[in-house]
Amino acid sequence: MAKTNPPRVAVGERLRRSREALGLNQADVCRRAGVTANAYNQWEKGRRLINLFDAMKLADVLNITLDWLYRGSDEERIMQEKNSIEKPAGWSEDTSNLFVDYGDYFVPERETQIETICSLIPAALPGPHQHVVELCCGDGRLSAALLARLPDITIHAYDGSPTMLAKTVGRLDSFAGRYVTAEIDIAADDWRRFPWPVRAFVSSLAVHHLDGPGKQKLFADLAAALAPGGALVIADLIEPETTLGRDVAARGWDHAVRHRCLELDGDLKAFEFFQDDTWNYYSDPAPDPIDQPSALLDQLKWLEAAGLRNVDVHWLMAGHAIFSGVKPG
Ligand SMILES: C[S@@+](CC[C@H](N)C(=O)[O-])C[C@H]1O[C@@H](n2cnc3c(N)ncnc32)[C@H](O)[C@@H]1O
Repeated sequence: MAKTNPPRVAVGERLRRSREALGLNQADVCRRAGVTANAYNQWEKGRRLINLFDAMKLADVLNITLDWLYRGSDEERIMQEKNSIEKPAGWSEDTSNLFVDYGDYFVPERETQIETICSLIPAALPGPHQHVVELCCGDGRLSAALLARLPDITIHAYDGSPTMLAKTVGRLDSFAGRYVTAEIDIAADDWRRFPWPVRAFVSSLAVHHLDGPGKQKLFADLAAALAPGGALVIADLIEPETTLGRDVAARGWDHAVRHRCLELDGDLKAFEFFQDDTWNYYSDPAPDPIDQPSALLDQLKWLEAAGLRNVDVHWLMAGHAIFSGVKPG
């Protein structure tokens, strides 16, 4: 589901540079090339890859060659190859921006998921300070819902993306003094010690960026940091056990996104993008290596092995699940 450094982003960037070099605005280019403003905007922002027919029209207007538009210069290609060798694949700021724009379409029953996670935060712990940590908070939607629903908590909203953290700070503006943000790598250990008791750890759609052993270690570290009575609540993609199960998840996710697009916009444009961009992990023949969901049963066992009890599944749809465990105490 997380596509990194796609060619469409570089093509969009070259479109923008050549348009600006001619001193044209987007409307000028669209009029001269006979393309729609919406489509051009998507191409230039790198959200869709331009088709050959429209690319020929734009190449004429912008006085560039198709080869340069699609492949760039030799120097650019050398830089791209160098970057792809030096930088491991991972979540990019482009992906953050895409997710901010399309999360409402792509996340099945997003409001229900948020409501479910909020409902699983245990009652207040003894003591004045009630700390809830959200791992990979994205644009802060879940943190905002938790702060609104639980007036006694402080949220520690962590993410690896500066773009996401900036969005979170903007969204939590009205909760000043009740939240802290931090840039972390979920795979690293350095943030996993807490000088205060943790009432709950929550995370949505991010733990699958760790492999199986990485998840086991994360669950063990978080369970150790929880206060007695505290909970670990995870919403995430899960790995189907069988091909049939994968097909069911694939169809279910397509269905959920289609339904959502029609509900929100009355058309299927965002669904077409979901398909073009192969966001459906379950039907993608070559999923992005960053996505490493684990089987639900394994993850429930790992929660138990970490010492958590009342391990349970609370919601399941289209390959997405919400599950939790509570630290005895
Ligand atoms: C699919 S988004 C989910 C965002 C949010 N939790 C939600 O459900 O709307 C995945 C999030 O994980 C963050 N992320 C990805 N890899 C990460 C890493 N290695 N360390 C920290 N955050 C990471 C991304 O920046 C992004 O905010």
